Amino acid sequence: MTSAPRPRSSAELIAAEEPVLAHNYHPLPVVVARAEGAWVEDVEGRRYLDMLAGYSALNFGHRHPALIEAAHRQLDRLTLTSRAFHNDRLARFAERLAALTGLDMVLPMNTGAEAVESGIKVARKWAYDVKGVPADRATIVVAADNFHGRTTTIVSFSTDETARAGFGPFTPGFRVVPYNDLAALEEAVDETTAAVLIEPIQGEAGVLIPDDGYLAGVRELTRRAGCLFVADEIQSGLGRTGRTLAVEHESVVPDMVLLGKALGGGIVPVSAVVARREVLQVLHPGEHGSTFGGNPLAAAVGTAVVELLETGEFQRRAAELGVVLREGLEALVGKGVTGFRSRGLWAGVDVDPALGTGREVSERLMREGILVKDTHGSTVRLAPPLTVTADELLEALRTLEKVLSRQA
Ligand SMILES: Cc1ncc(COP(=O)(O)O)c(C=O)c1O
Repeated sequence: MTSAPRPRSSAELIAAEEPVLAHNYHPLPVVVARAEGAWVEDVEGRRYLDMLAGYSALNFGHRHPALIEAAHRQLDRLTLTSRAFHNDRLARFAERLAALTGLDMVLPMNTGAEAVESGIKVARKWAYDVKGVPADRATIVVAADNFHGRTTTIVSFSTDETARAGFGPFTPGFRVVPYNDLAALEEAVDETTAAVLIEPIQGEAGVLIPDDGYLAGVRELTRRAGCLFVADEIQSGLGRTGRTLAVEHESVVPDMVLLGKALGGGIVPVSAVVARREVLQVLHPGEHGSTFGGNPLAAAVGTAVVELLETGEFQRRAAELGVVLREGLEALVGKGVTGFRSRGLWAGVDVDPALGTGREVSERLMREGILVKDTHGSTVRLAPPLTVTADELLEALRTLEKVLSRQA
C-alpha cells in the first residue's frame, strides 16, 4: 500500500523546484496553496493580501463565484471540440465581447502573446489585401519600452535587452519610436505601415501613462495615414483603469483591440483579437488558428467575464477605489516614495533607491503580508483585484509606509 506523500513546507517546495523547473522567473519566496477574493494563503496557512492579481489576470479576484460556477457548469457538459467543429458556447462569447468593446468581430486565442502574434498577422494581411502594400513590405510601428509578450517575433521589437539577448535572429518589419511622442510616430509612418501597435498604458515599463491627447492623436494620425491603430489592452483592459478599455479615457475606438489575462477570469487562458469587420475578415480558413482557441470552457468563462463587466460595477469600483489609491500614494510622496503614476486600480510606485530595490521592498511587503511585484529598478507595481475593499487598500498603503520607514 502506498501512503500519501508527506506535505512539504514552503522552503522544501521552493528547493524542490530548483533542479527541475526552468529558471525563467525569479518569484518571491511565497508558495501559494489556496486563495479567495483578494486574499491568498501559503502552504503554512499564512495569509497575504494580493496586490498584484496575476498581473491583472485576476481582476475579479481569486475564484469569483460567478466565474467558478460558469466553469463548473461547463466542465460538466463539454470542454473541448477544437475548431474542427462548432461548439454551442462560442457564438455568444463573440457576440458579447464584440458588443462590450464596440467592435465587430472576434478571433479567439489563448495567451496574450498569441493575441499579439495574431494581431500582427491580421494587420499584415490587411495591409496586403486591403491597403495594397507590396508583398513582404508591410511595417508595424511600435513604442520603445513596450511589453507585448515573449515569442520570437514579439521580442524582435522589444527594447529590453534581457528579453532579446540570445534569441535572435529577429523578425523584420518593425519600427520602434519613443512612447508618448506623436511627432516621432508621424515620421515613422509611411505607405508601407500596416499598423501602429501600442499599449494605452505601458504596464511592464512601470505603469507609464501617456500625456492627455496622445491616444486621440494616435487615432487621428493612423486614420489620416490609412493604417490600423492596434491597442494592446491585455493588461490595461477589462476594468483595470476604471473603464472597460483604457482607450476609453480618450473616447478612442481603435481598429483592433488585443485582450487576454482577465478575459480568462483567472481560471483558463483566454485571449482575443477584437476588430472591425473590414479588418478581421481578411482571414480565411487555414490561414490562422489554434487548437484551444475558442474552446467551450474558455468561451463559457469568457462570457461570464463579459457579463460581469456589462454590469459596470468593476469599472466603477476601479475608478472609485483608484481615488483612494492615488490619495494614499500622494501622502507617501517624500516618505520613501519618490513618485508614482496611477490610473484606476493600477499604479507604478517609484521608491527611494536608498531604501532598497523594488525587489527588496516587495520582499519586505511580503513578510508583512502584502504581495506585490517590482518592475524595473526601484519601481513597485500595484494592481489589486477590482474586488478589493477600501479598508484592504488602506491596509496595503499603511504597510507600504511602514516598510519604507524601515520599521519593518
Ligand atoms: C500588454 C501586454 N501584452 C501582452 C502580454 C503577454 O501576455 P501573456 O503573458 O499571456 O502571453 C502581457 C503580459 O504581461 C502584457 O502586459
